[in-house]
Amino acid sequence: MSTSTVNSLEREVLLSKTQVLVEALPYMRAFSGSTFVVKYGGHAMGEEHLAADFARDVVLLKQIGIHPVVVHGGGPQIEVMLDKLHIKSNFVHGLRVTDAETMSVVEMVLSGRLNKQIVSAINQQGGLAVGLSGKDGKLIQATKLHHTTDLGYVGEPATITPHILDTLRESDMIPVIAPVGVGAAGESYNINADTVAGAIAGALEAQRLLMLTDVEGVLDKDGRLIVEMTETQAKMAISTLTVTGGMIPKIHTCLDAVGRGVEAAVILDGRVPHVILLELFTIHGAGTLIKKDRSPSA
Ligand SMILES: Nc1ncnc2c1ncn2[C@@H]1O[C@H](COP(=O)(O)OP(=O)(O)OP(=O)(O)O)[C@@H](O)[C@H]1O
Ligand SMILES: [Mg+2]
Repeated sequence: MSTSTVNSLEREVLLSKTQVLVEALPYMRAFSGSTFVVKYGGHAMGEEHLAADFARDVVLLKQIGIHPVVVHGGGPQIEVMLDKLHIKSNFVHGLRVTDAETMSVVEMVLSGRLNKQIVSAINQQGGLAVGLSGKDGKLIQATKLHHTTDLGYVGEPATITPHILDTLRESDMIPVIAPVGVGAAGESYNINADTVAGAIAGALEAQRLLMLTDVEGVLDKDGRLIVEMTETQAKMAISTLTVTGGMIPKIHTCLDAVGRGVEAAVILDGRVPHVILLELFTIHGAGTLIKKDRSPSA
């Protein structure tokens, strides 16, 4: 291979890199100053290199003037720890009945190890992350989730006090939130992380809600990716059991969020390297976009 061929190849690679930046520029300008809530699913956290990619994407967002707020899950990690401690759980409609002992393990895993792992991953990539749970700055005041069966310390957000997030927004710090809420008597509640992400996005009037999970997005009956879903289509998919399990609260959360004014809520595949950047800064997009129904006059 002659030197000039190598050079022209190199030039092409460089050109395609600049092309990526050029393509990203209008998006960067449009998003600058806005708030993005990113739900990082426990199921998407599996591999170390993906965690590093995720962290780098979050740092990049902050660097270009977007304010990322990370909310994380941790179902699988809680499962592993409860198993190790030989604590058995009963499930009712997919929800774990959470007694006081289970709750203390849930809180240790979520607010402790997992939260600090994500904080650390972001800091490793040159960001400045701060770990919080719903207890810090009374961020998430919760009430017990009422259900036909007593689920113990499973809660839902009642009041979001975003003061701590508003303060961090003005700094170079990136909040990372564990989905543990605090009750009126100071007790802890385990809250579905999707629900927390939606409540935070609503309280912050975020422009985007990005839900990173372990599937491509919402899949149809034949396992094909649904690129866009309106409210009616989403409700239909749930009622016909096309959508089940952990995807149900995710879709409800996205619908609530767009109903409350969040511009776009997207369910993304957290297993794809740099999926956040792919979704935001390229014309290709990724995952499933959840939309409001078109009003008849529109
Ligand atoms: N129609 C569907 N399309 C895609 N996924 C679906 C569908 N119906 C059910 N699911 C399930 O929803 C799961 C995603 O929700 P899940 O609660 O398990 O993960 P997560 O919310 O990302 O993680 P965590 O709950 O730990 O925060 C998928 O792995 C899949 O098994
Ligand atoms: Mg889930």
